[in-house]
Amino acid sequence: MAPPADEKGEGVMKKIVGIVAVLMACTWSGAAVAADGASIYGSKCAMCHGAEGKGVAMMGPALAGNDIVKGEEGAIKELIRTGRAGSDIKYPNFPMGMTSFSMSDEELDAVVTYLKGL
Ligand code: HEC
Repeated sequence: MAPPADEKGEGVMKKIVGIVAVLMACTWSGAAVAADGASIYGSKCAMCHGAEGKGVAMMGPALAGNDIVKGEEGAIKELIRTGRAGSDIKYPNFPMGMTSFSMSDEELDAVVTYLKGL
């Protein structure tokens, strides 16, 4: 027998609709800010590295003035693509490690340019 369409069912439906709306908003904003390094940084990096790249306790190290950020662009892009986890983690005070991101070359270029200007 099918479960009755009671209030509980409606609640679940509302939640699903809510989740789908959030996912769509994420996808859409991702496309809309395609090559805007500041927006990419603000939406994907700032929560861990700080709005001005000064780092966030327990979340992520400072990127402003960071040697890696001053270094070769290809290496920075590679790190953003692959993230850093497990035994590769460099800073024990940021236990979560660095998330990996799937971004287009254009987005990577934009965000790396932004990092270098921090
Ligand atoms: C969930 C938190 C988080 C997010 C989101 C995040 N990072 Fe990180 N990131 C870290 C942590 C933690 C490390 C340090 C990892 C370690 O200990 O080796 C790190 C390391 C880095 C490093 C290397 C710094 C160094 O000294 O080795 C760069 C560059 C970097 N992140 C750039 C970015 C960029 C660009 C974004 C956004 C696209 C981003 N991160 C998003 C947490 C995050």
